[in-house]
Amino acid sequence: MAPNSVPDISLNDGNTIPQLGFGVFQIEPKDTAQAVSRALEIGYRHIDTAEMYGNEAEVGQAVRTSGLDRGEVFVTSKLSNAFHRPDDARKAFESTLAELKFDYLDLFLIHWPLPTRYDGDFVSTWRVLEELQRDGRVRSIGVSNFQVAHLERLATEAEVTPAVNQIEVHPYFANEEVRAYGKAHNILTEAWSPIAQGKVLDDPTVVDIAEEVGRTPAQVVLRWHVQRGDIVFPKSTTPSRIEENFQIFDFALDDAAMDRINGLDKGEAGRQGPNPDTFDYLPE
Ligand SMILES: NC(=O)c1ccc[n+]([C@@H]2O[C@H](COP(=O)([O-])OP(=O)(O)OC[C@H]3O[C@@H](n4cnc5c(N)ncnc54)[C@H](OP(=O)(O)O)[C@@H]3O)[C@@H](O)[C@H]2O)c1
Repeated sequence: MAPNSVPDISLNDGNTIPQLGFGVFQIEPKDTAQAVSRALEIGYRHIDTAEMYGNEAEVGQAVRTSGLDRGEVFVTSKLSNAFHRPDDARKAFESTLAELKFDYLDLFLIHWPLPTRYDGDFVSTWRVLEELQRDGRVRSIGVSNFQVAHLERLATEAEVTPAVNQIEVHPYFANEEVRAYGKAHNILTEAWSPIAQGKVLDDPTVVDIAEEVGRTPAQVVLRWHVQRGDIVFPKSTTPSRIEENFQIFDFALDDAAMDRINGLDKGEAGRQGPNPDTFDYLPE
């Protein structure tokens, strides 16, 4: 059997990112350090957090106590929806670094475009991320939940092309239009909720393929993502699943299996999370 090693993918700014990471959305702060420590022990070297997840401090703690050098672990965080105004965004980034107790961040994202808030202005927010990257405080910058129109606006009005766009993608919502824009413009797609928070795992097609290849449904779906070239960071607080989700680089799906999973796309109807064109949540 081929050894299981996670490929590094090149970003458009020359940095690299491990294709598989560990997501910490909806992990309680009290459980986060333990889950991240387990992931790092298993071999994950990429953690995806956000200011709005409320667990940056615990992510930082797990990385710092892991025995790994800071440079061995790729850490992403995201700007809270509450802080899009430029001065707030600068302060929020400092607070993210302070929570993590890091002197730099690998990747910082605008979490949501919020086109109906802040007079529709996410461009001045993006310019702050450009500034932070110039200052060397963050190595790579990107966006999350940006639709094609939002990416086109950055292409016209901003200097730096986002390195990634982190969007909802799974077999029930393949999000092809936004992925295709990314592919054409050298913006890597990061697929959030890659197993649709577990909802695709009972799908008969996924279950059949899992039986055929002798893997679990989660491994099959995560493998489908990586063969499409996307970056994934499944979340789990269950130690056996954290391990299972890591074992996806020692087998492959053939074209027929890929096509059968591609066929599960329900378009907009398959979306599980909010639509970025209308999502306007601001934390208290
Ligand atoms: N940018 C954004 O707006 C955004 C939005 C959502 C998510 N994200 C990112 O994407 C990451 C992943 O997305 P997600 O957390 O929404 O969902 P997900 O990774 O698709 O699914 C997580 C759920 O699936 C279960 N699970 C995990 N591995 C499993 C396995 N092998 N077998 C069966 N069940 C399994 C987990 O349960 P247990 O924990 O109980 O094991 C949990 O309930 C997040 O943590 C976050 O980093 C970003």
